[in-house]
Amino acid sequence: MDSGQPNLVLGIETTCDETAAAVVERRADGSGKILSNIVRSQTEEHARFGGVVPEIAARAHVDVLDGIIAQAMAEAGVGFAELAAVAAAAGPGLIGGVIVGLTTAKAIAMVHDTPLIAVNHLEAHALTPRLTCALAFPYCLFLASGGHTQIVAVVGVGDYVRLGTTVDDAMGEAFDKVAKMLGLPYPGGPQVERMASGGDPARFAFPRPMLGRADANFSLSGLKTAVRNEISRLSPLQPNDVSDLCAGFQAAVLESTADRLSVGLKLFREKFGAPRALVAAGGVAANQAIRAALQDVAAIAETTLIIPPPALCTDNGAMIAWAGAERLALGLTDTMDAAPRARWLLDANATAPKKFANTRAGF
Ligand code: KG4
Ligand code: ZN
Repeated sequence: MDSGQPNLVLGIETTCDETAAAVVERRADGSGKILSNIVRSQTEEHARFGGVVPEIAARAHVDVLDGIIAQAMAEAGVGFAELAAVAAAAGPGLIGGVIVGLTTAKAIAMVHDTPLIAVNHLEAHALTPRLTCALAFPYCLFLASGGHTQIVAVVGVGDYVRLGTTVDDAMGEAFDKVAKMLGLPYPGGPQVERMASGGDPARFAFPRPMLGRADANFSLSGLKTAVRNEISRLSPLQPNDVSDLCAGFQAAVLESTADRLSVGLKLFREKFGAPRALVAAGGVAANQAIRAALQDVAAIAETTLIIPPPALCTDNGAMIAWAGAERLALGLTDTMDAAPRARWLLDANATAPKKFANTRAGF
């Protein structure tokens, strides 16, 4: 509860391939400060498989989590007894990793008699701009990472309305798969962006998925298949083919994203009035071309684009700690029965689009 005292919260993140812990302070006026934020990425462990291997991820979390937490506490100069709460991402994500983080948080909560907060990982992304720039509600979030592609109206803590989502692949996943088809290393997004900068975006007439539709959903698997078909037609590929394919794919993603977001912002306005900002988060928000496209979309919609610093856009412990602190301020704590969840929709009223099977997009 809001006691008037600053609350220190430990946050633990283990839903995918980052093991992370952080200590964040939330003051009574609602402002926040990161005291420590330790992230260990497992990219090296997964690189040779071309994607995240759930079993390897879970084992790596077990191996390093205690050390990462100790480091986060030491760097913050905080003892467990001083914590107002311990928060862990309880989903959505790879279930093995989620179990590791949530169980560890429960152990700390029990031993130190501290409240537990089971945080939705998507909620943590959604609330990050309130930590970084004290953004007021309501605002529109575009979240695009390896596991999620969503447009969400962030109306209040615990009050989220999903305006659009992907019906198949997540955006980062599509970048990764295209990179893999082209023989580029994992994670593929930055590689595709780099190759695209030297390519001709007009050489291939790739489809612009969902363009002009009245809903704000995304679809990326048809575009991915179109790229695959071109690769088979052209093989063996020359270096300029790779650059042109990357440029063509990225151009199609950009155009589709701009269209889907402009619809999402229109739906936002109809339901909630003018958004305070358009916020972008997730690894894909690191893409410079996408950032430029988002800037245009925000300007046309007469709103401001906010992209948290890269380290807080990708998965981290500070966002989990902060979401925990925001929930704690409202008295929203959890019991030891809190369950790890592979799937956990942010919007309680949203239904899963039909084509979720076999993709990470259902997160
Ligand atoms: O948020 P994130 O670090 O982790 C999760 O997936 O939760 O996002 C990683 C994803 C990967 O799919 C990666 O390829 C993509 O974000 N990504 C990019 C870029 N940098 C990272 N995609 C496109 N362009 C980039 N520059
Ligand atoms: Zn994430």
